[in-house]
Amino acid sequence: MIARSRTVICVVGARPNYMKAAPIVRALNASARLRPMLVHTGQHYDPDMNERFFTELGMPAPDANLEVGSGSHAVQTAEVMIRFEPVLDRAADPIVLVVGDVNSTIACALVAAKKGVPVVHVEAGLRSGDRTMPEEINRVLTDQISDLLFTTERSAANNLAREGIDLARVHFAGNVMIDTLVANLPRAVAPAETLAAAGLTAPEAFAIATLHRPANVDDPAVLERLLVCLRTIGARLPVVMPLHPRTRARIDAAGLGGLLDGRALLALGPQGYLAMLGLMRDSRLALTDSGGIQEETTALGIPCLTLRDNTERPATVEFGTNTLVGRDPGRILAAAEEIMVSGGKAGRVPEYWDGHAADRIVGVLEQRF
Ligand code: UD1
Repeated sequence: MIARSRTVICVVGARPNYMKAAPIVRALNASARLRPMLVHTGQHYDPDMNERFFTELGMPAPDANLEVGSGSHAVQTAEVMIRFEPVLDRAADPIVLVVGDVNSTIACALVAAKKGVPVVHVEAGLRSGDRTMPEEINRVLTDQISDLLFTTERSAANNLAREGIDLARVHFAGNVMIDTLVANLPRAVAPAETLAAAGLTAPEAFAIATLHRPANVDDPAVLERLLVCLRTIGARLPVVMPLHPRTRARIDAAGLGGLLDGRALLALGPQGYLAMLGLMRDSRLALTDSGGIQEETTALGIPCLTLRDNTERPATVEFGTNTLVGRDPGRILAAAEEIMVSGGKAGRVPEYWDGHAADRIVGVLEQRF
């Protein structure tokens, strides 16, 4: 038998990372050549944004937690770098694997690249073309310093080629987030149970909405317009809205809590993965600015309106159920109306969003390392 030779340090930091890392850690655990080490940066720290996901996804407790917490982009990124370096120094012959586009992704990739440690980026090559999004900066920079890049959709390789990245380093693996969806769909929590836990009665039919991007929630006037718009939709099709802590804080600071009336607009706290999955699966329509939800609704065949002007995930629009509607209430209402009347556009699930992306990734890693 071949001795296990190399440690793959899998970095997670923020809520959307856990669903991406879980199937990779599992596939690495089954590998004869590689072993996983899980490092949590602590970018997200509330139990609702964090431990709950580890439990639900059957993830092992992290081998190290850097406990960086919140801060400005500079402070958060720098703290992750400072605290990650000694962890990396202690690992024997490591490889660093980062997922997605959060501050923890670029921070750990940069520490590793400068030390000559191989960097693997999962979910590489996605581009919104919008450099005002902090995630876009994280994507471009992480890809530039990665040794191996795994993409979720075919268009991503074109973006990487345009930025001068050698396509010999790029592998089309499919979508690890959908691995987690496929594995957990039978365990999704019924919406009635989720709403009852919040003291609310589940409407017969409902839409689900999430907002957390700074462009949608940081300006009180924009936030108010969007909440009023969701309430208008909610008068016909009640809107269930799990709130990111950042959004909750902005609503409270702007005195907009009165818009969350428990009938047209039903606010919940941050939800666990299995509750979100149940809410998405059973909704008629999703309205969101989240990248993950654009992909998950495409995989589930639920119509999705994305309240942004661009998406880094064009496969969800080209093949899936997603439509970009920006943040103009008139346009959002018209698109929602159209879905309520016609059922929305029929989509198909993009190539390799099939539940086996992590196996493909670990297969390549085993060959390469
Ligand atoms: C981060 C990611 C974003 C991702 C999102 C998912 C970056 C640049 N952004 O944004 O891409 O879509 O996670 O949630 O990395 N907070 C809490 N508890 C927590 C975490 C955060 O209350 O556990 C509050 C704090 O007030 C914090 C704010 O949320 O300042 C923002 O958190 P932060 O991690 O900086 O960015 P997100 O908006 O969550």
